[in-house]
Amino acid sequence: MNILLLSSLASAALAAGQTHKTDCQHLTAPNVPGATVLSINGTERWNYTVPALRPFLLSPVSGLNFCDVTVLLTHAGAKDQVTVKVWLPLQDWNGRFQANGGSAYAAGEFDLTLGPTVKAGYSSSSTDAGVGFNPETPSPWALKADGSVDFDALINFSYRSIHDMAVVGKELTAQFYGTKPKYSYWNGCSTGGRQGMVAAQRYPDLFDGISVGAPAINWAKYVLAEQWPQVIMQQEQTFPSSCELKFFSDTAIAECDGLDGVKDRIINDPEKCHYTPYQSVGQEVDCDGKKVTITKSAATVVANALQGPVDTSGRPLWYGLNAGAPLDSLVNTTAAVNGTLAGYPFFVNDEWIKYFVVRNPDYNTLEINATTFVDLFWKSYIDYDSTIGTDEADLSSFHQHGGKLLMWQGLSDQLIFPGGTVDYRTRVERLMGGRHKTNDFFRLFFAPGVDHCGFGSTIGAIPDDPFGALVNWVEHGKAPDSIPATVNDEAKAKRIVCAYPQRAEYIGGDVNSAASFRCA
Ligand SMILES: *[C@@H]1O[C@H](CO)[C@@H](O)[C@H](O)[C@H]1NC(C)=O
Ligand SMILES: *[C@@H]1O[C@H](CO)[C@@H](O)[C@H](O)[C@H]1NC(C)=O
Ligand SMILES: *[C@@H]1O[C@H](CO)[C@@H](O)[C@H](O)[C@H]1NC(C)=O
Ligand SMILES: *[C@@H]1O[C@H](CO)[C@@H](O)[C@H](O)[C@H]1NC(C)=O
Ligand SMILES: *[C@@H]1O[C@H](CO)[C@@H](O)[C@H](O)[C@H]1NC(C)=O
Ligand SMILES: *[C@@H]1O[C@H](CO)[C@@H](O)[C@H](O)[C@H]1NC(C)=O
Repeated sequence: MNILLLSSLASAALAAGQTHKTDCQHLTAPNVPGATVLSINGTERWNYTVPALRPFLLSPVSGLNFCDVTVLLTHAGAKDQVTVKVWLPLQDWNGRFQANGGSAYAAGEFDLTLGPTVKAGYSSSSTDAGVGFNPETPSPWALKADGSVDFDALINFSYRSIHDMAVVGKELTAQFYGTKPKYSYWNGCSTGGRQGMVAAQRYPDLFDGISVGAPAINWAKYVLAEQWPQVIMQQEQTFPSSCELKFFSDTAIAECDGLDGVKDRIINDPEKCHYTPYQSVGQEVDCDGKKVTITKSAATVVANALQGPVDTSGRPLWYGLNAGAPLDSLVNTTAAVNGTLAGYPFFVNDEWIKYFVVRNPDYNTLEINATTFVDLFWKSYIDYDSTIGTDEADLSSFHQHGGKLLMWQGLSDQLIFPGGTVDYRTRVERLMGGRHKTNDFFRLFFAPGVDHCGFGSTIGAIPDDPFGALVNWVEHGKAPDSIPATVNDEAKAKRIVCAYPQRAEYIGGDVNSAASFRCA
């Protein structure tokens, strides 16, 4: 971009910021097709701070000046109440709108995502989908009084709310500044990533660009697969401690780290890593001063976590974790007072199975065996794939609208299996005329060693600014072949992550410099 253009953009932004057209207090109800606005309340905030909350927001965001709008919506004939928050910068609006997603069982993160987005100059919005804000459990809304699933609530959470929220956010942006946003974006990870894919699949004209991290797509299948290691722990009556689990991951990393010619505690290509947990049987591990011998059953548990679930004849049902990924989220245990370990399912799968698949909040998911697992797996798929699966591979409408989709995921994601992401991408390629045609509008980046959403529990090269790469693609037509990344360790080495199926390859020179790598 030339300097003249830069400065004219800057002064335009400044002018827009100083002369927003409508007072924050006098915004009027937006028109949302199919919904009724119950109330709208705008309040100016000056020098506002959003406090840090790990792992979502690592440092506080302060000095925010914005118009804080709360819109309450309801739908005809229903008693639902949806809260949509819209934050509009009072100064230096950059002319763009960016909607933000949620996590686990929350449709929106509100301040945690709105803060950084407004700080970057965007107008922004977030919704609770009418199901309230509780990432940890769907218990307040999953079941109706008669014990049946509240499909309306699930539909609102799964997709309907994305549309309403974007319409409200864009309309209020236009009203406040007197001009429509030049570009509209989606940005989210995990559930937020799934919601971005909802937009690409169902509401193809809402956003010019969609940035998606570790998307919780294939929900009806992958969430059941998260339970599998617990099934095997029960079957084997073996509950490896976190120390033993770390030993398995560390051993895989030690064995496969150097395959790419760089010793950096990062497995560059897990598919090339042939470590199997059975290699470690009989080895002694020092756990808090106690010698523990790795048993065959412990190896069986870990092997299952890496392979993913199978049916009763051994056919794969879904994917597993990559070698080197942290195991203690899905193979988690809890200690009784006497020190004995027992299984401890991850809350997303535990709650999903209880409330939606079995429809009994008192159900104990530790009772699932390898046979009942298969029934529950298919029940989840049959009952819910069309609602929350978000795995529709036909993106032609999004493509026709000129939309761009940038997806990324850590290869050491400990919760959402990267194999499922490849599965989706492969299906899109098949439907959209091959890899090259797909790359025209959808690029996928895998980040070796990186954990779920790049929260930072592992050593890997976390992409610096995937969202910025998307903006550059949408606004300047520069499709990214690679994205700069920084290794999450003391040295903060510079790397690149490459557009799938390429991977960063070491070509010699300083291993801490991005210039020593190329996509191949
Ligand atoms: C509007 O929001 C402000 C700030 O949150 C609050 O103090 C006020 O009570 C709200 N007004 C209405 C009518 O809800
Ligand atoms: C803004 O808030 C910070 C605390 O977050 C405070 O230190 C600073 O003095 C405030 N600035 C103004 C201009 O009020
Ligand atoms: C979901 O939205 C529909 C209308 O779109 C409404 O009828 C229903 O009450 C909502 N349910 C909940 C729980 O928000
Ligand atoms: C693992 O289990 C412990 C209880 O032993 C629990 O406090 C922790 O939250 C669990 N971790 C995850 C990621 O579920
Ligand atoms: C330890 O406590 C658990 C649960 O309270 C119990 O099932 C187990 O039998 C106890 N083990 C021993 C060795 O006492
Ligand atoms: C699995 O659990 C079901 C239901 O509890 C039970 O009927 C079945 O016998 C169990 N299968 C095995 C192999 O233990």
